[in-house]
Amino acid sequence: MTQSTRSTRTTQHDGPRGNGGRGTAVASPALNLRLFATHTLPVFVRGFVSPRPRVVKAYAALNQPAWAAATLRALRGRHGGAPVLVRGLSGPMLVLLDPKDIRQFYTEPVRSLAMDPPDKDNALKVLEPTGVICSHGELREGRRRINDACLAESEAVHPSGKEFRAAVAEEARRLVSQRVVDMEDIRRAMARINRRIVLGDAAADDEELHAWLLALRNEANWMGRRKKQARAARAVYARAQARIESYAMKAAAHTLIARALGQDDPQGDLDPVGQAHHWLLALDTLGPTAARTLLLLGAHPAEQQAVVPEAASGVADMPRMRACVKETVRLFPIVPDLLRLTRAETTWRGVPVPAGTAVLVPALFHQRDPDHVPAADLFAPGRWLSPGAHEAVQLAPFSHGGGHCPGENLALLVGAEFCAEILRTHRVTRGRPVLPSAGPLPWLLDSAAIRFGLEPR
Ligand code: HEM
Repeated sequence: MTQSTRSTRTTQHDGPRGNGGRGTAVASPALNLRLFATHTLPVFVRGFVSPRPRVVKAYAALNQPAWAAATLRALRGRHGGAPVLVRGLSGPMLVLLDPKDIRQFYTEPVRSLAMDPPDKDNALKVLEPTGVICSHGELREGRRRINDACLAESEAVHPSGKEFRAAVAEEARRLVSQRVVDMEDIRRAMARINRRIVLGDAAADDEELHAWLLALRNEANWMGRRKKQARAARAVYARAQARIESYAMKAAAHTLIARALGQDDPQGDLDPVGQAHHWLLALDTLGPTAARTLLLLGAHPAEQQAVVPEAASGVADMPRMRACVKETVRLFPIVPDLLRLTRAETTWRGVPVPAGTAVLVPALFHQRDPDHVPAADLFAPGRWLSPGAHEAVQLAPFSHGGGHCPGENLALLVGAEFCAEILRTHRVTRGRPVLPSAGPLPWLLDSAAIRFGLEPR
């Protein structure tokens, strides 16, 4: 049903301003409830920061995110693609359903469209209280500069690429002696890689630090609402921070933590070392991403064959292998929803939206939107090799604009090198869960269930 065939509800308070007398489109109570039931509630049940394994397993069996996509399609049909105001958990939320509004979302400065609406801020503060996402104004800009510099945001190959690639290859090589590899093998290997890159080789075996960080991520799912546990989490954070600082004192120059120590902090409030909490969290997500990439390549033998020459060449910048990793996070994003908060009045399609409104780009929905993305449900890594693909606003596994992921190039370097090291000598076969090699892929892939065979080439 389109806007031309049904009337569209609009807000009364801002109606007459700047939109030919029309205000912001408002979701009907029925669609509001449907969005809550199929999108908002499932996100919180799954875990806002740290996905709960049993819930993910159940959602994968039910193909749950497809329900949310059906609701978002209904909202778009009902309101002709205009931004729609819904009732979010913590107040009004504007949902963006059309690429031209998403373009504006990415061009608004972070000062007016901030990264941290209350629920996200409360969650992230548990595990990275001084992280860039939870910071504002000058402080945010200083912390973002530190992240950009340490992660070498704009360089395809990080200045420590040689050391990082060597660590990745060494850890991945241990797996190829196995005939069957599962998610736990990959998680363990990637966690060692992660600690070697961020903190140095001395931290490679520190599973205790990993357990503390995992406990903080699990607590973050409660968004600070469990007061007693939140107090205990602060003690765990202090312990983890002290451990990270102790590694920083003796870390080799190529590690991220040594690069952090070398950053200017004139007022002493930027906490360069504290940024490592996010880096450790983010690099851990490469375990599931690498496992999914290898599983997808196992199900698409022609794509697997196409990356072998590049993997065998030993070059650092592997465009085809990186395209496979990026295609994996398009299909199965690490951040399926991008949430912001207006800190000043902003105008959408000529309609002013007051400060304090949450703004949502449902990234997974847009990345799988057949109206704007060709072959949206298929594994087609070649799309990322076309000119302009990385700038397309509907494809944003690493986001765009001022909040764009500063770790994208590092993530692609590590993810691509990990997969390439395995594919140099082995073929991935007999993957589980079984994926279609030609038909549409499911909306959710339970990484915990992943296992595949390796056969020597
Ligand atoms: C597959 C891996 C990764 C994906 C898909 C990913 C994706 C993203 C996305 C979508 C955002 C924006 C989040 C938002 O708007 O709320 C983001 C932010 C961020 N990412 Fe990544 N990321 C990955 C890996 C990494 C790595 C390896 C690092 C660092 C070691 C990193 C560091 C950051 C930081 C610091 C931010 C916050 C940026 C800011 O507030 O300005 N990410 N990432």
